[in-house]
Amino acid sequence: MGKRAQRLLTTCILIIPVSLNWSACRATQASGQAAAQKQAAVYEQRAKHDPDGIGKFYLGREIAHVMGHQAAGWLERPDREETELPGEVVRNLQLKPADNVADIGAGTGYFTFRISPLVPRGKVYAVDIQPEMLALIEQRKKKSGANNVVTVQGTEADPKLPANGIDVVLMVDAYHEFSYPREMMEGIVRGLNPGGRVVLIEYRGEDPGVPIKRLHKMTQEQVRMEMTAVGLVWKETRDFLPQQHFLVFVKP
Ligand SMILES: C[S@@+](CC[C@H](N)C(=O)[O-])C[C@H]1O[C@@H](n2cnc3c(N)ncnc32)[C@H](O)[C@@H]1O
Repeated sequence: MGKRAQRLLTTCILIIPVSLNWSACRATQASGQAAAQKQAAVYEQRAKHDPDGIGKFYLGREIAHVMGHQAAGWLERPDREETELPGEVVRNLQLKPADNVADIGAGTGYFTFRISPLVPRGKVYAVDIQPEMLALIEQRKKKSGANNVVTVQGTEADPKLPANGIDVVLMVDAYHEFSYPREMMEGIVRGLNPGGRVVLIEYRGEDPGVPIKRLHKMTQEQVRMEMTAVGLVWKETRDFLPQQHFLVFVKP
């Protein structure tokens, strides 16, 4: 090999990897900055806020604190049968036997295990950020033999939905406490099949007679604004629940 060729080879070996690393580093820095800019554009942090909230606002709504797993017993309270009509809720989901359903913010699996027998040829993905909640679901799965239930450890900003496509996403009394609602909904929309539905159930924020803390309720107008922001299309609102909205959105 001539001296010139040797010099060229050395240049390639030494300089190109350095420059590739540098480009990768610049790209990482840029994506970090983009993420920070997106955060600032989408959310607002306020010092003065409701003690039930985290001081972070999304489209004018303050996000509530997450309900800790220590209160899991409250999710299984017997009077829920009368006040939240879970049987009617799952009937209104109009599921088909092969549907894949994601119960996001599943808690103890109160809805997951009511959905499981309705989709014998599909799966129910029970997504939560608290491993303690997922452990309770796993215990119940073992006892009941509901083999189509799959627990998913999500993160605050990513529901980690499987790639094989979700037909129906259910969120009951959970969405208002997602600390990254925009990112969560973007992940949900990505995971949904075209024509797939999002069913969102929240205590009615317009109704002072509903005995739930303000930040743990949502108005229909607010829900529609937040779902529309990620490209979902409102289909209908069904008014059969005593205290909650039942809103249906579709991925076009
Ligand atoms: C009030 S509980 C409702 C549980 C259940 N949907 C029910 O109706 O019984 C809300 C649940 O949402 C979960 N959660 C909060 N933020 C979440 C997020 N970003 N992704 C997934 N789950 C979340 C909490 O850990 C908690 O278990």
